[in-house]
Amino acid sequence: MSSVLSVSDLTVRFATPEGEVNAVNNVSLDVEAGECLGIVGESGSGKSQLFMAVMGLLAANGKVAGSVKFEGKEILDLKMKDLNKIRGSQMSMIFQDPMTSLTPHMKIGDQMTEVLQIHKGMGHRAASSRAVELLDLMRIPEAKKRLSQYPHEFSGGMRQRVMIAMALLCEPKLLIADEPSTALDVTVQAQILDLFAQLKKETGTAIVMITHDLGVVAGLCDRVNVMYAGRFVETGTVRDIFYDPQHPYARGLLGSMPRLDEAKGEHLSAIPGQPPNLQDLPPGCSFQARCKYRFEPCVEDPHPALEAIGGGRKKACHLKGLSRDGEVVR
Ligand SMILES: Nc1ncnc2c1ncn2[C@@H]1O[C@H](COP(=O)(O)OP(=O)(O)OP(=O)(O)O)[C@@H](O)[C@H]1O
Ligand SMILES: [Mg+2]
Repeated sequence: MSSVLSVSDLTVRFATPEGEVNAVNNVSLDVEAGECLGIVGESGSGKSQLFMAVMGLLAANGKVAGSVKFEGKEILDLKMKDLNKIRGSQMSMIFQDPMTSLTPHMKIGDQMTEVLQIHKGMGHRAASSRAVELLDLMRIPEAKKRLSQYPHEFSGGMRQRVMIAMALLCEPKLLIADEPSTALDVTVQAQILDLFAQLKKETGTAIVMITHDLGVVAGLCDRVNVMYAGRFVETGTVRDIFYDPQHPYARGLLGSMPRLDEAKGEHLSAIPGQPPNLQDLPPGCSFQARCKYRFEPCVEDPHPALEAIGGGRKKACHLKGLSRDGEVVR
């Protein structure tokens, strides 16, 4: 079976007056139908920009290289017109900041129906009732009345739900959700996560979930990729990475987790020290300055490649092994 999304060797650079920002460095990933891939990592590690690049939505000073295939077809070099046929219908993204993707001066109903009219060729009436259906599903009270309101008339949490409704309108094959639940209260959050789980199971929607919330990862994701300074440093099943993280950074971030089923409401823990400056990445491993297991190769050799360590897992680390009680094999 071919992947819904297949990213290889993706690099994102931003030009700034102070120099080039190496936001995403040679990242590869695959997401299959019916699967949820979690992306975790601290603030500024490149999670959002990686998927902005996938969507063809980088800021004007951003440049992307590598390959992004959607259902086997290269989309990185598509013309805007052709990309727009896929974006928003077959592949959609819930953005971290809902205001960036809602048009402020357009009624919510018009924004929602326009998507269906363009992508699905629906008439106004059918599109409106589909919009109401989705807003209902997102637990927005009095959905019909809400169609004639503007984004600023919605609360933050409601705007987030409108965004989710918009992303789901055309039943995408791939849904990229960037911190979709942060602005929501816990009950609504739980309902929406249930809905995602249902989507994945019943319609085979592939989901990429970018999140700081370990409960979301434990409850919804099948696999997880841990990102540090624009690279994946460890990838594997949620179970493997929660129980037995092998990269010291992943250990610091997730290792405090005693049990998967206790993960509810937990957030990623903080690791002492600062991530490296992306304009001036150190030679060697990017995590070396914060790593208590550092030894010569971490400083002297190039950044370790992301390599298979068995059981479908990969890590980018010179250590041969790291046991649960912190014993290292160099
Ligand atoms: N337009 C831009 N110009 C220059 N640098 C940028 C631009 N957009 C993003 N960056 C930088 O790219 C890096 C990665 O940003 P990104 O938004 O992907 O982080 P993130 O992992 O999503 O963080 P968070 O968890 O806070 O959302 C950051 O250092 C950020 O400052
Ligand atoms: Mg982000």
